[in-house]
Amino acid sequence: MNEPIVIAIDGTSASGKSTNAKLVAQALGYVYVDTGAMYRTLAWYCLQKKADVHDAKAVTALLRKWKTRLECVDGRARLLVDGYHPEREIRTAEVSAAVPHVAAIQKVRQWLVKRQRECVQFGNLVMEGRDIGSNVFPETEFKFYLDASLEERTKRRAAEGIQENLAARDRRDSQRATAPLMIPLGAMVINNSRMTSEQTSGLIISEVRKRLAGRK
Ligand code: DC
Repeated sequence: MNEPIVIAIDGTSASGKSTNAKLVAQALGYVYVDTGAMYRTLAWYCLQKKADVHDAKAVTALLRKWKTRLECVDGRARLLVDGYHPEREIRTAEVSAAVPHVAAIQKVRQWLVKRQRECVQFGNLVMEGRDIGSNVFPETEFKFYLDASLEERTKRRAAEGIQENLAARDRRDSQRATAPLMIPLGAMVINNSRMTSEQTSGLIISEVRKRLAGRK
């Protein structure tokens, strides 16, 4: 049997990763995986359990006891917490503030990267995050890196009703010691400041189709 295909979509915050990754997954019939949601789920769990997210030891100790598993529903893979999917809870400002600290802990990343790799059990994937092409699936030949101007990204977040210091979050994600945000080797860089999501996802889909046709 052929190896599952993994399309890695990395990029800065609010660069359109989620919207485009979902459109690409839908068009190709692949499973969509939001790895940011996995980091957010753990950050939410830490807040629930009153673990200090700045304390790597406390977070790691909690991780060891964490009862979680992966599931795939309606073409989307996700992490469950004691059988529960905290879909809305992980999008709060409190979780957004806590998540970069949790995501900077090496043991957390090692553990979550394993779970992310296990997602191939569900089939071909479109996986979005910050280190998918550089660290989770560096061997994939389908790597895309999305970016847009800070002004445009701030506008997009505001349209979602979220006021956020994106520059600060990008800085934290890019400067952390473990698996920092970077353009993966061989990635196609798409600056979509002036592109619609149909144009961005269309570009990714046609590039993937072209490369798949070239394999035959
Ligand atoms: O994409 P997002 O905003 O939901 O991501 C939440 C946080 O998790 C963000 O601070 C970056 C981090 N993250 C990461 O470090 N590695 C990933 N593969 C995905 C997200």
